[in-house]
Amino acid sequence: MLLKEKVKESLDYILAKLPFQPQVAVMLGSGLGTFAECMRESVSIPVKDIPHYPCSTVPGHAGKWIVGKIGSVPVLCIQGRVHYYEGYSLEQVTYPVHLIAGLGIKTFIVTNAAGGLNPDFLPGDFMLITDHINMGLNNPLIGKPENQLGPRFPDLSHAYDSGLIELAGQTAQKFGMKVHKGVFCWVTGPSYETAAEVKMLQKIGGDAVSMSTVPEVIVAKQRRLRVLGISLITNLATGLSKTKLTHQEVTNAAAGAMQKFEQLITNIITQLDLKPL
Ligand code: HPA
Repeated sequence: MLLKEKVKESLDYILAKLPFQPQVAVMLGSGLGTFAECMRESVSIPVKDIPHYPCSTVPGHAGKWIVGKIGSVPVLCIQGRVHYYEGYSLEQVTYPVHLIAGLGIKTFIVTNAAGGLNPDFLPGDFMLITDHINMGLNNPLIGKPENQLGPRFPDLSHAYDSGLIELAGQTAQKFGMKVHKGVFCWVTGPSYETAAEVKMLQKIGGDAVSMSTVPEVIVAKQRRLRVLGISLITNLATGLSKTKLTHQEVTNAAAGAMQKFEQLITNIITQLDLKPL
């Protein structure tokens, strides 16, 4: 079945469930899933019910689409993204982005928990992504031409929207939050980096490293979405910290920063300059 046929079946299902048309999509990273609870009038759609949607098979980790309002802005929050390291293809990993674009949403906020490569970064800081380096060395757009839902060779020279970065930076400053700007490196994982790999990532210009986001952003640009990428620095990358890194450390740090994260994202969303639908 072609990608566009699968997308159409998924959209037919979703459109029948939506209470209103969302204008912004927020993809939530590891440990940041509870953000969706701050929305009003929300309706949730379990992703296991959406035809063709890639669902995590881990019990208790089932994903949800939650549509609700932040201020007066209708927002779609995506909980429980799937990762390449779980064995999904990059087409599956990026499938939600095709649905976002298919719904007519133009603004995509993608978030993740990341390791800090830049020595100035501390756990709990935020980084606004200004650019990325694809160290996963794979690309979700590899495939047959009939499966492309946009340009074959999309330009990534301004992948992250400078107006959104500016707005996010000003919002963070207003609330006294520490936010950096920097370059995000995608690695496939699931093992964390060696100390030598971290040195290399620093040398090639990386400021933060994580196992998601870049595939989604590549598809988002093919689909001409306006992208804001925000990393929550949950740990110092290997070799910069004296302790061993665990997944638990990452999710605990994300949970600890949830309130700040919620304040930042909700205030960005309510200030967005959105065109009428
Ligand atoms: N490395 C890779 N992925 C991550 C890290 C890290 O240090 N922290 C959170 N996700």
